[in-house]
Amino acid sequence: MARITASVYTSHVPAIGAAFDLGKDQDAYWQPLFAGYEYSKRWMGENRPDVVFLVYNDHATAFSLDMIPTFAIGTAASYGIADEGWGPRPVPQVEGHPELAAHIAHSVIQEDFDLTIVNRMEVDHGLSVPLSLMCGQPQAWPFKVIPFAVNVVQYPVPSGRRCFELGKAIRRAVESFDGNLKVQIWGTGGMSHQLQGARAGLINREWDNAFLDKLIADPAAAAAIPHIDYVREAGSEGIELVMWLIARGAMADVAGGPAPILQHRFYHVPASNTAVGHLIMENPA
Ligand code: DHB
Ligand code: FE
Repeated sequence: MARITASVYTSHVPAIGAAFDLGKDQDAYWQPLFAGYEYSKRWMGENRPDVVFLVYNDHATAFSLDMIPTFAIGTAASYGIADEGWGPRPVPQVEGHPELAAHIAHSVIQEDFDLTIVNRMEVDHGLSVPLSLMCGQPQAWPFKVIPFAVNVVQYPVPSGRRCFELGKAIRRAVESFDGNLKVQIWGTGGMSHQLQGARAGLINREWDNAFLDKLIADPAAAAAIPHIDYVREAGSEGIELVMWLIARGAMADVAGGPAPILQHRFYHVPASNTAVGHLIMENPA
């Protein structure tokens, strides 16, 4: 049986990728941010998964206004690296897990979630920056990745509640896979940030930290937050945080199991225009 061993939550700010790639990670501006991930890299080394189910959002790289899937699962064997802004990052391509991805697609679609199945796409900073933060700069990523893209860019976006329910279905799907795999689920994006308009630069530390508290201890309450509250309190791009609820919904306690062990919590401002939040939660073995 495959098992969800842990969930990881982290922001994906593209400038973090550029800081990595240009060797600026020890600059005074970036050092405190990267220091918050030192523990995480050690933890990853000691808790190596076979597969990471990586919930992220595409930023008009693979998708555009031509096609807007609400939820898209990558079923390919590999994914190329692409990006807007700084251009494609010099990081390894991403190896997929087509068998597990196809199984999850089958299971979740039969449980009434509408997924778009993607057999070919490139992935952007939404996916590659979390990989760099958690793994550093390896020659090859040390696990397979199932990219799971959520539309949080073009309205209408999915509710936190639906994301949380989807996480529960993903957990059931993983646990019904016939194969002995350790799977982590990552929720990425956020925290508070707004990149455009009169409120550009908005950061809300109080709301962000209250969100972290809720996500840890009362995820059902976090799932009940309406989308307008994210936008009002955490900025237009703060809506990326609904993706964290997919990962949280896949944890054991939500299905009546034991509470997760909080291994790490980190919060830092600023990183470019974004407040960075990061959590690691383990399911007790
Ligand atoms: C920034 C943050 C994002 O989430 C993004 O996709 C692009 C830019 C920023 O803070 O600059
Ligand atoms: Fe983003």
